[in-house]
Amino acid sequence: MIRSPAPFSLTAMTVFAALWFLLHPSSAQLSPSFYATTCPNVSSITQTVIQQALQSDPRITASLTRLHFHDCFVDGCDGSLLLDDSATFKSEKDAAPNLNSTRGFDVVDNIKAAIESSCPGTVSCADILALAAQASVFLSGGPYWTVLLGRRDSLTANQAGANTLIPSPFDPLANLIAKFSAVGLDTTDLVTLAGAHTFGRAQCKTFSPRLYNFTANGGPDSTISPSYLYSLQQLCPQNGDGTVLANLDPVTPNTFDNKYYANLQNNQGLLLSDQELYSTASAATISIVNSFSGNQSAFFQSFARSMINMGNITPLTGSNGEIRSNCRKVNGS
Ligand code: HEM
Repeated sequence: MIRSPAPFSLTAMTVFAALWFLLHPSSAQLSPSFYATTCPNVSSITQTVIQQALQSDPRITASLTRLHFHDCFVDGCDGSLLLDDSATFKSEKDAAPNLNSTRGFDVVDNIKAAIESSCPGTVSCADILALAAQASVFLSGGPYWTVLLGRRDSLTANQAGANTLIPSPFDPLANLIAKFSAVGLDTTDLVTLAGAHTFGRAQCKTFSPRLYNFTANGGPDSTISPSYLYSLQQLCPQNGDGTVLANLDPVTPNTFDNKYYANLQNNQGLLLSDQELYSTASAATISIVNSFSGNQSAFFQSFARSMINMGNITPLTGSNGEIRSNCRKVNGS
């Protein structure tokens, strides 16, 4: 007897579809045209507010880009980072990687207010962070990409998660890789997204242990070039003010370009987590650094792809979460 193949094919297709959604739980639900009819100017409104802020704060584009990263790594890109303390949860803003460090929340409020006046109750704060990161990179000379939209906002924050899930500048490379892998990002995403350290600043306390008593015999980190070491020691004396700022990219501090990778090749990575990408013996990251250092458009293409990958980390969609009217508070609280 010949059995019809249909039931088998149907089962196979169902299993395939189920597997596909398991492996790509969210990306299929975000869309470049999500606000095409409900808020068609959402990108240009975002860009205009950032351009205004840039006039008095050349660092703001870097700060806004970082907010999207710190949002997405903690329970997905859901705007949880933006919530202030409430009666029922503690703000992620006070977690160690964010406290006295993340900035730009007032500019996010301004973007939200401008969008609310054009399209009330429509655009999530999580999407605003994704749009602000894209506009910031582009306005600083970096690549353009089409942002996928349709995220919704969380009803809670996860301060403990922010303390453990966001990579530390003192993490060994294996831990950086593991923290990226935990949110579905691979080693290429890691090296690519670390390239965001092509702009912005870091406080002395985030790298000064490298400058003094770093090795067993009391010397500085040997993967810092002598001239760079000297200038960092001038800026950040031992036991000095840990909040003094250094440029993450000493060559082109406010421009989004591929100089970050040449800096690593020249032993001028500011954070240990930066320099490790190039200086960890036989690491898979070295060849990626070399290729981006020699080819800015390869870096830009990869950056666009990896930002979309990061923006796809478990967003709330459909009827989950809400569209906050104030990014700092859950509606009705
Ligand atoms: C690979 C793991 C990463 C580590 C360990 C790390 C760590 C840090 C640290 C310690 C600072 C300085 C904070 C301060 O001194 O207050 C910083 C700044 C910054 N980070 Fe990262 N970061 C990582 C990845 C990323 C990613 C993936 C992005 C974005 C896609 C990013 C974007 C930035 C930007 C733009 C700044 C400068 C912010 C400003 O000037 O306000 N970082 N990062």
